[in-house]
Amino acid sequence: MTVQPKIDAGARTGAGIDPRYMSGFGNSFETEALPGALPIGRNSPQKAAYGLYAEQLSGSPFTAPRSTNERSWLYRIRPSVKHGGRWSKCDRGLIRTAPCRDEADLPIGQMRWDPIPLPAEPLTFITGLHTVTTAGDADTQAGMAAHLLFVTASMEREYLFNADGEYLVVAQEGALRFATEFGVIEIGPGEICVIPRGVVFRVELSGGPARAYVCENYGGGFTLPDRGPIGANCLANPRDFLTPIAAYEDIEEPSTLYAKWGGELFSTPIGQSPLDVVAWHGNYAPYKYDLRHYSPVGAISFDHPDPSIFTVLTAPSETPGTANIDFVIFPERWAVAENTFRPPWYHRNIMSEFMGLIYGVYDAKPEGFTPGGFSLHNMMLPHGPDATAFEHASTSEQKPVKLTGTLAFMFETRFPQRLTGYAARSSQFQPDYTACWDGLKKRFDPNRREAW
Ligand SMILES: [Fe+2]
Repeated sequence: MTVQPKIDAGARTGAGIDPRYMSGFGNSFETEALPGALPIGRNSPQKAAYGLYAEQLSGSPFTAPRSTNERSWLYRIRPSVKHGGRWSKCDRGLIRTAPCRDEADLPIGQMRWDPIPLPAEPLTFITGLHTVTTAGDADTQAGMAAHLLFVTASMEREYLFNADGEYLVVAQEGALRFATEFGVIEIGPGEICVIPRGVVFRVELSGGPARAYVCENYGGGFTLPDRGPIGANCLANPRDFLTPIAAYEDIEEPSTLYAKWGGELFSTPIGQSPLDVVAWHGNYAPYKYDLRHYSPVGAISFDHPDPSIFTVLTAPSETPGTANIDFVIFPERWAVAENTFRPPWYHRNIMSEFMGLIYGVYDAKPEGFTPGGFSLHNMMLPHGPDATAFEHASTSEQKPVKLTGTLAFMFETRFPQRLTGYAARSSQFQPDYTACWDGLKKRFDPNRREAW
């Protein structure tokens, strides 16, 4: 086995940046694990250095506008056509793909689950991917799936790519190591990793068992939201996104390459590691981001802005301002607004909201929504603070308060999210969730104008 990562000459290695990564979002990166492996001034020389094969990976159509055009050039030991090819369909386990309408017969409603315990049996990234909701239609490249991920075993001589969408992995417990065609990414709780559509990877445990939430994005790739009047800084800053430097494996051993394609899982035998890219350049590559680098902007006088103010990444649709998916977080922050109901207000929403809690306490639901758990507030179904949070937020003195040690997130999509049978039948489903609003009593009195 040969793994020879080399620090890219252009990578920023000071200021706390791990030298295995390059800084920036959507940059045209270039990196090589052997000196001179990357052709200079051209993509496809007559003969590539070291006997490598040149290959392009396109994440957008060739003709996409320059601002959304995504592709990378990979210089690899074998071209991908030599990576197996005798495909057969295999058991997809608990992986589901939209459209997936008939698995759950629960009536509509606001829904919440306790954390599902980490299973005891060996589960890899593939067998540990348990789909909870699906939305839209993967074949039309619209919509998403939300998965819970339980990893209790590393993938060994196994590799995967997903043709149906990109994976956004939100680590919640334990650490995960993604060995990819482009290099190695490691994440722990509070960090995310994005693996673009089609990129081959293997997932290993860095320590004990790990748990994560995964958003599978069937649509156009995640990008940074425009900031509008916020200006040039804050929210998620491009410099905090990290893409790995090139690292390759020259391993000859019988292995299996899996492909998620059209909602099914296929496998092919392969005689070597497909993570054999010695050098690459381009703007289509996996990346990681530490959510604690997100610089939140909020109310400093009164009222509560829309939660879109906390958008980290957005996957746009063809309709301006209407996201296929928004990835939103609720991080540590100060609450200082005066004469204001500070928690998120009650509302109904055309967008469908899947929420999870990475750590800490979520201010609108101090009870019943615990780290590793999740909730679903689907299209046009009302939700908001529970009775305890309402009472507290309505009566407490409005001093500046710091919300500390908390990190919640939301996958919000324009499409309704359909429950899978796995989620509907889970014993962690909270049938009495809506009772959290039972204590909201009628306070109206037409003869008393002053607030209660
Ligand atoms: Fe909401």
